[in-house]
Amino acid sequence: MFRLTLDSLDPDLIELAPSILSADFAHLADQVEQAVAGGGSVIHVDIMDGHFVPNLTIGPPVVKSLRRATRLPLDCHLMIENPDQFIADFADAGADWISVHQEACCHLNRTLHLIKNHNCVAGVVINPATPVESLSEVLDIVDYVLVMSVNPGFGGQKFIPAALHKLRQLAEMRSHRGYKFRLEVDGGIGMDTVADVVRAGAEILVAGNAVFGKGDPKANASALLDAAKSASLQKV
Ligand code: DX5
Ligand code: ZN
Repeated sequence: MFRLTLDSLDPDLIELAPSILSADFAHLADQVEQAVAGGGSVIHVDIMDGHFVPNLTIGPPVVKSLRRATRLPLDCHLMIENPDQFIADFADAGADWISVHQEACCHLNRTLHLIKNHNCVAGVVINPATPVESLSEVLDIVDYVLVMSVNPGFGGQKFIPAALHKLRQLAEMRSHRGYKFRLEVDGGIGMDTVADVVRAGAEILVAGNAVFGKGDPKANASALLDAAKSASLQKV
């Protein structure tokens, strides 16, 4: 099988995407500012509908407010059924990146084109039980692939290690077939797991609890990003 044989990964490719799910919503702009001061460069926004996942969060009005609070890309992770119905609303609210779950889309190709037609960066997400092979026919059109390392719905869950082989497999497929998509990972990312996901090929690291759960979001974000960048320099 084709293997990655890099001496190191480029630390400049690594980005931290603080997930506001674990932030204090009464002080959202301040919390985002702190995480950005610590090196966060993409703001991850979790959208849940109570159907696709057993939790409810926020919708386009909060995205619209966040749009006024930061110039950084807003990465809207749609954990919703019928995402086609809401893509225009999120794009109009100011989303820059929109990702949809493979499991929620019966016409995934059409949905990804719909995102692009709204001038947004298009991502596809897979749950822990969904194999990488299920993305085989869309890898040439996606801008990023998000590998869930927890079952979606809640922050602060334990990392599922099977995500590592999926990241490696996607990195190998990308390299082998000459695709351009970026690799994002989401769920249970903290000081104990960040090096492993980076060495497996993850470039965009979503972290909620590890940034906003306790302590200072700026210091937490900074420590996580430093650990990720050092891991990228270690031989794989
Ligand atoms: C889970 C969400 C995640 C969540 C991650 O369904 O998609 O983005 O915020 O939270 P942590 O980093 O706490 O696992
Ligand atoms: Zn998410």
